[in-house]
Amino acid sequence: MEGLKIPRHIGFIMDGNGRWAKQRKQPRNFGHIHGSNRIDEVVTACLDLGVECVSLYAFSTENWQRPKEEVDKICDILHKFLNQYAKKLIGNKIRLQISGDYTKFPKKIINLIEKRLEETKHFENRTLNIAINYGSKQEIVSAVNKLIESGKTCVTESDFASALYTANLPDIDLVVRTSGEQRVSNFFLWQIAYAELYFTPVLWPDFDKNELLKAIEWYSNRDRRYGKV
Ligand code: IPE
Ligand code: IPE
Ligand code: MG
Repeated sequence: MEGLKIPRHIGFIMDGNGRWAKQRKQPRNFGHIHGSNRIDEVVTACLDLGVECVSLYAFSTENWQRPKEEVDKICDILHKFLNQYAKKLIGNKIRLQISGDYTKFPKKIINLIEKRLEETKHFENRTLNIAINYGSKQEIVSAVNKLIESGKTCVTESDFASALYTANLPDIDLVVRTSGEQRVSNFFLWQIAYAELYFTPVLWPDFDKNELLKAIEWYSNRDRRYGKV
């Protein structure tokens, strides 16, 4: 624990739910349920360590191409999570933020999201940023369109960053991807420009506080040079 460098912002690509279920001869949805049950432990451990912002990749713009039954189940899990997590967000002064066009989800999810956003918007120190119906390319294109609509013909990096979902957040310092895949799958491409990338074979439903500490220990030993010597 001593000498750990704590990232300000960690992004989790929570991958491997399906394979975790398959290993147990269970339907993929079984993995999604167990995966969602890991979130609280990991988020709590991050915030206890002093991480200011946690971003979770929960559903990508590409994930709509999965079978409808699986998408519906993920929606149910998301709804349940947003219901149960209200107490935690408010009790621990965590602001909820959503990255992605959440208006494409069923009405009851939209309503719940808007309720949670409203209830937590005044919390400034810690943020839980959930990426749903999120894709970085979509985000970048919509940022460009927003800037054009506002009348800009020339923009700075800071104008551009302000048009993203993460406008108010620091860039991501550490990306953790579970399940052994070594790719970023359209996850916050602008915001991870200088992030350290940690890949672990552990499947998301097995990712716990101990695994998080391993990732942060690894991060602490990285030399972030930002192009300097
Ligand atoms: C990640 O687990 C959860 C979502 C993408 C919603 P997967 O469902 O992708 O699990 P694998 O990759 O098939 O094992
Ligand atoms: C990335 O996982 C998206 C989420 C974790 C929500 P995927 O399983 O969808 O990514 P690919 O298809 O392996 O790149
Ligand atoms: Mg996957």
